[in-house]
Formats: sequence, C-alpha cells, structure tokens
Amino acid sequence: MDNLKKKLRRMLSNQTYAHSLSTCETALDLARRFGTSEEKVGTAALLHDCAKSMSYDELVYNVQKYKIPVDKLELKTESLLHAPVGKKLASVLFGITDPQILSAIRYHTTAAPAMSTIAKIIYVADFIELARGHKGVVDARKAAEKDINKAMLFILRKKIPYLVKKKVLIHPRSVKTLNWFLEKEEKK
Ligand SMILES: [Fe+2]
Ligand SMILES: [Fe+2]
Repeated sequence: MDNLKKKLRRMLSNQTYAHSLSTCETALDLARRFGTSEEKVGTAALLHDCAKSMSYDELVYNVQKYKIPVDKLELKTESLLHAPVGKKLASVLFGITDPQILSAIRYHTTAAPAMSTIAKIIYVADFIELARGHKGVVDARKAAEKDINKAMLFILRKKIPYLVKKKVLIHPRSVKTLNWFLEKEEKK
C-alpha cells in the first residue's frame, strides 16, 4: 500500500491526493460496516481518481493510446472521462487485475445499475468523505450508516437535479442507475 501511495502521490495534485486519502478512510469504515473486503475497497478508493489530475488533452490521448471504450458523452465530458482512463491506469501502472476494483473505479462518476458492494462503497465514500462540505452531505452520511443502497439512492437524487440546475448533459447511465435503485426499493 505504501508503494502505491508513493506512486499515486506523484500523479495527483495536493488536493486530489488529500481527497483520495480521505475517501479511502471513509471507504474503509463502510467496508467494515457492510462486511466486504477492506483490501479491495482500500485499493479502489485510493486509485479511484488516479487520472483526475490529467488535462482533458491527456485524458483523450490515453483513451486513444489504450483504445479505452468510452461513449460519446464520456469522451466530451472531462469530469466523466477520468473514470474510464483511471480504470486503465490502475491496471497498466498499478498492476490491478481484480475486476471488482477496476469496475468500482470505472463507474465512480456515473454509477451503474447492479453495482457490487465495493463499487457502491467507492461511489458513496467519494461523496461523503470528511472534507466534503456540499449540500446534503450530512444526510448522505446518515443514510450510509445503515444502508448502502439508501445512500446510493440519496446521492443520485441529489446529483441528478444538481446537474439539471447546472444545465450540463446528464449521462443516461446515471438515470438508469437511479431507476434501478428506485425499483429495488419498490420491490421491498
Ligand atoms: Fe472522480
Ligand atoms: Fe473522487
């Protein structure tokens, strides 16, 4: 883990590195709470933003270099593109092969239907880590104390209207994911 951190430190801005460490602390708490692998969660949390400090041009360069599968909307949205590129770098630069870790990194921006518990933990921890002060974070933390699916639903319900307000494009995968969690709730 120390080697991984040293390498990561060199790739990230101070702010993103601090955010990654904080996301890792929060994600480890959630892993203990919901009984999943701390090792996998810790690795995924540290690496989830490993491509975040790249410029848009560097992200696009990596997409082309490694032939990373991305859709049109991801390709033109810088804030989404660091997730698929991050997945690839986690594998190429950090030697990660575990599909659950890679998938958690891949979907930490849009979320995805039927995510693993590890991927849900990364998505939630990214939103509620202790340095985050945005609206709704206190309630999201409360939701995450009991039920990771409720926390997912809560965060998606915050994020999607926030994007509507910002007048930016919304990835259909996020909407599909919101519906997926809503239907899961209805079935209870
Ligand atoms: Fe990110
Ligand atoms: Fe993040």
